[in-house]
Amino acid sequence: MEGQNGKESAGQEKGTSKAELKASYQHFDPALYLQRHYTPPRASFDNKDNVVPWKLGLIHRAFTEGDLKGDVLVDIGSGPTLYQVMSGCERFNRVILSDFVEANRRELQNWLQGKSNSLDWTPFFQHVCKLEGRSPEAWSEKAQRLRSVVTDVLPVDIHQPNPLPLDALPPSGADCLISCYCLEASSPDLASFNKALGHIAGLIRQGGHLLLIGTLEISFYYPAPDVRIPVMRLDEAQVCSSLKNCGFQLQDLSVYYLPQDMHKTTDDARSMFFAKARKQ
Ligand SMILES: C[S@@+](CC[C@H](N)C(=O)[O-])C[C@H]1O[C@@H](n2cnc3c(N)ncnc32)[C@H](O)[C@@H]1O
Repeated sequence: MEGQNGKESAGQEKGTSKAELKASYQHFDPALYLQRHYTPPRASFDNKDNVVPWKLGLIHRAFTEGDLKGDVLVDIGSGPTLYQVMSGCERFNRVILSDFVEANRRELQNWLQGKSNSLDWTPFFQHVCKLEGRSPEAWSEKAQRLRSVVTDVLPVDIHQPNPLPLDALPPSGADCLISCYCLEASSPDLASFNKALGHIAGLIRQGGHLLLIGTLEISFYYPAPDVRIPVMRLDEAQVCSSLKNCGFQLQDLSVYYLPQDMHKTTDDARSMFFAKARKQ
């Protein structure tokens, strides 16, 4: 397989194994990923139809509707991003971030320690403040709140029956688990996606919640200049049946179609889903 610059890529489109995917992820470039996915045109606050306001709005609604709160919120496959815990950090006493790739964990630690970061998260914090009915100027208080509640940035592997280190969570499990674009981007096929969903379901307490964001129509993305990662294609019906088969009751499902001006050559994502589900 050819990379963007014509070099051999680490991933294989057909028959990629979990081991090959894991090897490809070791080349993940946090700064490049953030720049491609979290700056304009892919991320914009000026356009109300942009994917970032879409997902921030749904995450905000997921926590406020039904007054979802608790002790522990865990984010699986955080990558180098923080947007996904900006609402939840107000509603949980502890937030645990996690990623498979050390460079991503380092990027998160840098932000937590106030060191220089590859992306300025200020507009994201400001947007979430507005969703919460606060002044955008409250963004630095929110950033401080997030820094104060994140207790760990842990290694994770969703393909292990116990994805997180032992004793990372209370014995009963997390009150809420969020995971964005991780399962389908690190599973070679539906069977391993379902298995991984079962593994992360095991991290949630009975009656706890799962917030899952993923890409539906996609076949690849580049998390580093020469690394093409094949991504499995999902559809809405598969998401619903996978959740049901893993013991979840679906509470909300939304689908987003990327407008033409957000299509890029570094991935072929066309639609995404957001799901809120309760572990029965
Ligand atoms: C598309 S990125 C998503 C990052 C971030 N959550 C976001 O919303 O942009 C996929 C993430 O899955 C992580 N990942 C890859 N293999 C994994 C595995 N076996 N277990 C857990 N996470 C994995 C990668 O390191 C990467 O950060």
